[in-house]
Amino acid sequence: SAPPGPERGHWRDRGGERRPEPSRPRGLAEMPGPSSAAFIFELLCRGGVRRLHEMQVHGRARFGPVWRARFGPVLTVHVAEPALVAQVLRQEGPEPRRALSCPWKQHRELRGAPGGLLTLEGDAWRGSRRLLARSLLRPGAAEAFALPVAAAVTELCPHVPMSPMSPCPRCPHAPGVPMTLMSPCPTAISWVLFSSRLGCLGDPGDSGDSGDTEAVLQSVGAVLALTLVTMALPRPLLRLVPAPWDAFCHAWDQLFAFAKGHVDRRVAAVAARGPLAEGDTCVTDLLARERVPVSSIYGNVTELLLAGVDTVASTLAWSLYELARNPGAQRAAAAATAAALGRLPLLRAVVKETLRLYPVIPANARVVPECDIRVGDYLVPRQTLITLCHYATSRDSRFFPAPDAFRPERWHPFASLPFGLGPRSCVGRRLAELQLHMILLRFEVRPEPGGGRVRPMTRTLLAPGAPISLRFLER
Ligand code: HEM
Repeated sequence: SAPPGPERGHWRDRGGERRPEPSRPRGLAEMPGPSSAAFIFELLCRGGVRRLHEMQVHGRARFGPVWRARFGPVLTVHVAEPALVAQVLRQEGPEPRRALSCPWKQHRELRGAPGGLLTLEGDAWRGSRRLLARSLLRPGAAEAFALPVAAAVTELCPHVPMSPMSPCPRCPHAPGVPMTLMSPCPTAISWVLFSSRLGCLGDPGDSGDSGDTEAVLQSVGAVLALTLVTMALPRPLLRLVPAPWDAFCHAWDQLFAFAKGHVDRRVAAVAARGPLAEGDTCVTDLLARERVPVSSIYGNVTELLLAGVDTVASTLAWSLYELARNPGAQRAAAAATAAALGRLPLLRAVVKETLRLYPVIPANARVVPECDIRVGDYLVPRQTLITLCHYATSRDSRFFPAPDAFRPERWHPFASLPFGLGPRSCVGRRLAELQLHMILLRFEVRPEPGGGRVRPMTRTLLAPGAPISLRFLER
C-alpha cells in the first residue's frame, strides 16, 4: 500500500489515522540548531561525549522541543517533548528501525557475522523478534526463567556484602559500578541464554574458568565505550587512526567467540542427553527447537549478551544508590512488598523512578526510510535520523516537579520510556525486571560514610560516573 503522506489540511499517521494539519509544515532548513562547529565546541567545553545526555537538556532549553545537530558525520533531529516523541512512535510502522547504518551493523558487514535483534532489519528482524518475544516477553515468560535466575542470584548474594565495592581492575570501562554489583548480571543472563554457570567472585563456574565473567564484562564494556567514538569520527579519520575501530571490532569478535563456544556446548549437551526435563531450558534450546540456523542463534545470543549485562548492572547500582539515600522509600518498598505477598507494586515503582532519573538508554533513535514524517511543526525528510531525548524529557520539571528528587510514587507516560515502546521495544524487559526485583529484595543498603553524590556519564549507556559505595545488610 502507498505510504501515508501529507494531505490537504490533514496528514495521516502510519496507523492510517487522519490528523488535522495545524499549519504549513516547515522544512529542515527552518529548524533551529547549532552549527557543527558550535556543537562540537560546546560538547568539548561541557566534558565531551560523557556529558552527551546533558546536551539534551541544554538543547531543549536553547532551541525548544525540536532541533537539529550534527553528531560527527550524521545529521540528526532531536525531539525532546513527550507529545512529539509519541507522534514519532505513532508513525514508525510495523518494522521500526533505529538507524540506517551504525558501527554495530558495519562490524557485521565487515566480518560477514550474523546479526541479532539489535542489528537486524525487515523480515530477518521480524522472524527473530517473533521467536524471542515468545520466549522472553509473553505473559508468564519470565517466570520460566525465574528458577535459574533465582538460583544464580541466591548463589551470589552471600558473596555480595563481603566483596570489595571496588571497580573490577580488568574492566576499566565501567568505573562506577562495583564488581560486586556487576557480576550477578552476566551470571544470570548466561543461565537464560545457554544454561551455563559463569564463574565469578571466586567461583570457577561450569567451565572452571573464574575469569569468564570478567572477560564478558571487558568485551561488553569495550564495545559500549567505543561505540560513540566510532560513530562520531568520520570514516577518513578512522582510516588514518585505526586504533579505536580495531579495538571496537576486536571486542565484538571476542563476544561472538564467547557466545559461540557456549551455544555449541549447549547444543552438543542437549543432543547427547535427549529430551529436556521440564524447566530445564534456555534461549539457545528454544531457538534450536524452532530450527533456527545456528549462525542466527550465534548472532542473537551474542547481541542479547551485549544488551543484557551493563543495562541491568547500572540500573541495579542506581536503584541501590537511591534507596540508600532515601531510607523512607526503602522502608516503604520493603513493607509494601511484605504486605503484598509477592506482588511488588512499590518495588516496581522504585525501578521505574530509578530509570526515569538514570535512563540506561538516555537517547533512543528512529529512522523512517520510506516516507517523510511529521514532527510538530516540521516535516522531517525520510531517512533522517531522529533522536528521542529521553534524558531531557525525564528530567523536565513540567512533568516531574523537583525532577532530581527520587519519588517512586510518580509516573508519566511518554516523558519517561526507559524500555522504549511498540514493536521494537526492549525484548529483555521482563528478564531485567525479574533480576532487579530479586536482587533488590535481598538487601537493605546504607550509603558508605563519606560517599558523595554520583553524577551519571554517557558511555553509549548512561552509567555512574564515579564509584558507587554502599554498605549491605542482608534482610
Ligand atoms: C534495565 C534494563 C534494560 C533497559 C532499561 C533496556 C532498555 C532498552 C531500550 C530503551 C531498548 C530500545 C527500544 C526501542 O528501540 O524502542 C532496548 C532494546 C533491546 N533490549 Fe533492552 N533494556 C534492558 C535490559 C535488557 C536485557 C536484560 C536484555 C536481554 C535479555 C535486553 C535486550 C534488548 C534487545 C535485544 C533489544 C533490541 C530489541 C529489538 O530491536 O527488537 N535488554 N532495551
